[in-house]
Amino acid sequence: GLDISALLKTTGDTTLDVGFVNTASCTSEITYIDGDAGILRYRGYPIEQLAEKSTFLETTYLLIYGELPSPSELEAFDQRLRRHTLLVEDMKNFFDGFPRDAHPMSVLSSAVSALGTFYQDSHDPHDPEAVEISTIRLLAKVPTIASYAFRKSQGQSLLYPDNNYDLVENFLWMTFGQPTENYEMDPELAKALDLLFILHADHEQNCSTSTVRLVGSSEANLFNAISAGIHALSGPLHGGANSAVLTMLSQIQRDGGDVKEFVRRVKNKEDGVKLMGFGHRVYKNYDPRAAIVKKTAHQLFEKAGPNPLLDLAMELEQTALEDDYFVERKLYPNVDFYTGLIYESMGFPSNMFTVLFAIGRLPGWIAQYREMITDPATKIGRPRQVYTGSPARDYVPSSER
Ligand code: ACO
Repeated sequence: GLDISALLKTTGDTTLDVGFVNTASCTSEITYIDGDAGILRYRGYPIEQLAEKSTFLETTYLLIYGELPSPSELEAFDQRLRRHTLLVEDMKNFFDGFPRDAHPMSVLSSAVSALGTFYQDSHDPHDPEAVEISTIRLLAKVPTIASYAFRKSQGQSLLYPDNNYDLVENFLWMTFGQPTENYEMDPELAKALDLLFILHADHEQNCSTSTVRLVGSSEANLFNAISAGIHALSGPLHGGANSAVLTMLSQIQRDGGDVKEFVRRVKNKEDGVKLMGFGHRVYKNYDPRAAIVKKTAHQLFEKAGPNPLLDLAMELEQTALEDDYFVERKLYPNVDFYTGLIYESMGFPSNMFTVLFAIGRLPGWIAQYREMITDPATKIGRPRQVYTGSPARDYVPSSER
């Protein structure tokens, strides 16, 4: 019942845009999305081409430095990252301090923030060298921290990185390796995870990226801005959707597998139930990342054997795509609809799914922070509001209340 136009008159030229549905907060050269056409490009390159031909390491370089690397540039970048994967030994105290059932996403964000305390020499956001070394440290150490968060939750000892491995393989080794056993790297598993990281690597001004930019706009250092981004990603409406999808599929299966009944409940908004993994603020068409993930899921499960939850997911997708409720609202599967199934088949527990998203999104957050901090047009982020509270009134002494 708010008369917005009247409010606007009283608040000068302030515009109310709840959830920033129509407001651009910056200009950016990093990622292009056309939500109606289902197009996503990093630095101009279509996501389909990067998914097929690039690697996560190369895509990371592309996002952060703006161009695809030459072979020698990529080699130098790879070697540099490999030298920075270890954590300061004192960092281990943090992992010891968390309760075993702590959510790994909270462990990750806290540890990234803590990591910054060991590198106070590189906090100046306007010193390009400081930002560069912080970039390398974060890219190299976040997978180590993520694997430690996992092992902590499993009650397992922490493994040192093996820098003969590349970034993604090293993460798999530190996560699933055992100190007394030979670890056999599964190249197909590493390749599938690498692909998922590419698909998550940037997505312009989503909730977590906007958080990184907003925190960074106060000239907070890169570690603190990234830690804030991880917190933003943890919610079920953002990065947490991938594990929420699996919970939803398992629940439908436990209830007898009646997809139509579940869709009916969603449409009636019973108990606020949503079709998790569906809908997107920007895509009003099939999320191009979801199409690639779906294909990957099929390839993986062809080898691993049938998965009843995949069948359920496909039935759910088909039912929704043929239903007026979803058609009218332009709700299509987003990237998270099929990723949880893949992560589970790789051996990750569901509370690690969002951590995997964070590893993938890290290059995007860093690229966006660097663009923001070097853009002369940047100002501290400070939205306005439309005040709807009480008009001026006089203080009432407590004896008269
Ligand atoms: N299931 C059922 N209905 C939905 C869904 C859904 N998943 N998503 C949107 N709707 C409905 C809304 O209820 C609303 O209907 P109404 O007009 O009758 O009230 C309409 O579609 C428009 O939805 P909004 O909530 O206004 O869209 P918004 O852009 O604010 O939200 C969001 C986008 C948060 C992604 C939403 O679609 C959602 O909650 N989806 C489920 C969670 C999810 O999958 N998140 C992952 C997003 S992708 C990512 O972070 C990588």
